[in-house]
Amino acid sequence: MEKILIVDDDPEILEIIAEVLKQAGYTVDTATDGRKAIRRIEAECYDLVITDLNLPEIDGMKILKYIIDDQSRDAMCIILTGYGTIKGSVEAIKMGAFDYITKPAKSDEILMVVEKALKYRHLQRENILLKQQLRKKYRFENFVGDSKPIQKVYELIEKVADTDSTVLITGESGTGKELIAKAIHYNSYRRDNPMVVINCGAIPEELLESELFGHEKGAFTGAHKMRVGRFELANAGTIFLDEIGDMSPNLQVKLLRVLQEQKFERVGGTRTLEIDVRIIAATNKNLINAVNKGIFRQDLYYRLNVIPIKVPPLRHRKSDIPLLVDFFITKFNTQKRKQISELPRDAVSALMEYDWPGNVRELENMVERVIILANGQKVSLDDIPESIKGKAKRVESVEVNIPMGGIVFDEAVEEYEKKLILQALDETNWVKTKAAKLLNINRTTLIEKMKKKKLHKPASDL
Ligand SMILES: Nc1ncnc2c1ncn2[C@@H]1O[C@H](COP(=O)(O)OP(=O)(O)OP(=O)(O)O)[C@@H](O)[C@H]1O
Ligand SMILES: [Mg+2]
Repeated sequence: MEKILIVDDDPEILEIIAEVLKQAGYTVDTATDGRKAIRRIEAECYDLVITDLNLPEIDGMKILKYIIDDQSRDAMCIILTGYGTIKGSVEAIKMGAFDYITKPAKSDEILMVVEKALKYRHLQRENILLKQQLRKKYRFENFVGDSKPIQKVYELIEKVADTDSTVLITGESGTGKELIAKAIHYNSYRRDNPMVVINCGAIPEELLESELFGHEKGAFTGAHKMRVGRFELANAGTIFLDEIGDMSPNLQVKLLRVLQEQKFERVGGTRTLEIDVRIIAATNKNLINAVNKGIFRQDLYYRLNVIPIKVPPLRHRKSDIPLLVDFFITKFNTQKRKQISELPRDAVSALMEYDWPGNVRELENMVERVIILANGQKVSLDDIPESIKGKAKRVESVEVNIPMGGIVFDEAVEEYEKKLILQALDETNWVKTKAAKLLNINRTTLIEKMKKKKLHKPASDL
């Protein structure tokens, strides 16, 4: 039950209020002057302190200040006032008291104010807890990997998180760009303020402008109400501009201004709004190419690219694969209430052979699928989709035999190559594009090799 301290130099009032609260089930302590009150507050953990303002020596204001200044305590404070001291209680509320009760108070009034204060405190605590959980979710423990390139990314995140520098995250689709943006925000001093995410590639240009900057009432047909944009919503926090490479030239100019001056106007408005927002942008496009082609403004590129973070594709950090697989197995076990044990070695090797064009997202989706489909607690190589282990398997299926007399190396390699090409053509009904894909070589390379080896589609198949 909640613990309450009542402070008043009038013992009669103390007793009346204490009785009302005890009856309601609260644990109650009392103090008759400020000094005793502070001593009690130091020794106990109160949820609520109700104090008179006029006390000898240490008055109610000082007690209030003592409670508010001490960050380790989060007690609520209610002021008791006589009719003549309303002014003082207004001041106390400005300082951080929750409410005041006028003496002589009725018992239901006391209870109402006390309940309201405690309920508020409960919500406040819950809110802090939720924010902590959210923060924890995006600290580094959620970002898995210990390969060299990823360690470099960690180092960068750590260095830049707590600054206001603009960050540009580049990397292929599914490499974890958004996760990195979140890690930066939740490790910055802005963490208790919003992180607003907007995908610039997913919203048509006309909408994107009012989405980003908001609009005034009547700015265009259909603008019936004023609308606050994402930049305003992100004030004091971070805005994550995803797929920045898809932004139109017109909006690029406006964004440049925000970056330079932290100022903008709502669409259809004349009032200039000032904001304090940290900008993180991401793209899977090559922005330098876009700049060279004249699609992306060079000045904007330089403004964004203050701190570049390049996220390497998964195929360039294959040593992260086993860690990621374990991480996702644990994650989906919890989520799907399964108890799949770790993958056997041959299955992990097969995963490491594969190039993961969809990067971590593709790996994550595959693990999820495998876990959903698994019967029992063990997963084997057979449970890994053919499309993933396919490549490795086909190579294994070509038999290699070195005869007693030895071989002519170049001829054997030629022969081996011919077998692989024929098998690929066979499987794809001699569609060269498909066969080349299966072999992971260029179509032109395949055609060249076919010419050189004089490989033709068998007559019977013509
Ligand atoms: N290093 C990592 N550790 C754990 N999970 C990761 C890691 N990298 C990516 N993921 C997961 O992979 C998925 C894709 O990541 P994310 O959305 O951040 O990629 P992205 O680079 O923004 O992709 P896109 O360019 O397609 O938007 C997410 O579910 C994310 O949680
Ligand atoms: Mg993304």
